[in-house]
Amino acid sequence: MRSPLPLGILGSGKGSNFRAIANAIDAGTLHAEVRVVVSDVADAGILAFARERGVRAEYLPPGRFKTRLEPEAEDRLVALLKEAGAEWVVLAGYMRMVKAPLLDAFPRRIINIHPSLLPSFPGLEAWKQALAAGASETGCTVHYVDSGMDTGEVIAQSAVPVLPGDSPETLHARIQQAEHALYPAVLREIAER
Ligand code: GRF
Repeated sequence: MRSPLPLGILGSGKGSNFRAIANAIDAGTLHAEVRVVVSDVADAGILAFARERGVRAEYLPPGRFKTRLEPEAEDRLVALLKEAGAEWVVLAGYMRMVKAPLLDAFPRRIINIHPSLLPSFPGLEAWKQALAAGASETGCTVHYVDSGMDTGEVIAQSAVPVLPGDSPETLHARIQQAEHALYPAVLREIAER
């Protein structure tokens, strides 16, 4: 039996995708192990959930920038992930751009989930962008992370309809449901390679 795929998870928010991944691990459908969860937000739900599960949870002060870690912080992040034994880095609602130190430390081993069918609607609040554009369909995308904003190679996508009367909240909830199935499925495929 192969050893479980060692994951490092980065998140800034409530952590529902991390929950979905943790549930798949518990259910035995994903042969992986979360070695550490790291957040740039001290009171993020994702850290609280990690602690509840007994998973190592680390707050990493991001430093002086808004959209990325300052270089010293990103160096610390790389050291933390390596020391925890993570081999794949899973962005789960992580709200900062990833820069060279992390990209170079985990080449083609950093993945992200984005709430649209990329390349449509990159960036923030993609579900609102889909509504504003009058799209009849949107969804979610798991992709490799590169130095751009939501530009890395697509691994898998899942479509959801935009329904008449959708609000940003109802549409986002439908996309998140699709995310919670897609992310564990992609990780399972990686773990089985
Ligand atoms: C998800 O919608 C994901 O697509 C985006 O950030 C959100 C994270 O949600 N990148 P959660 O923290 O996993 O609940």
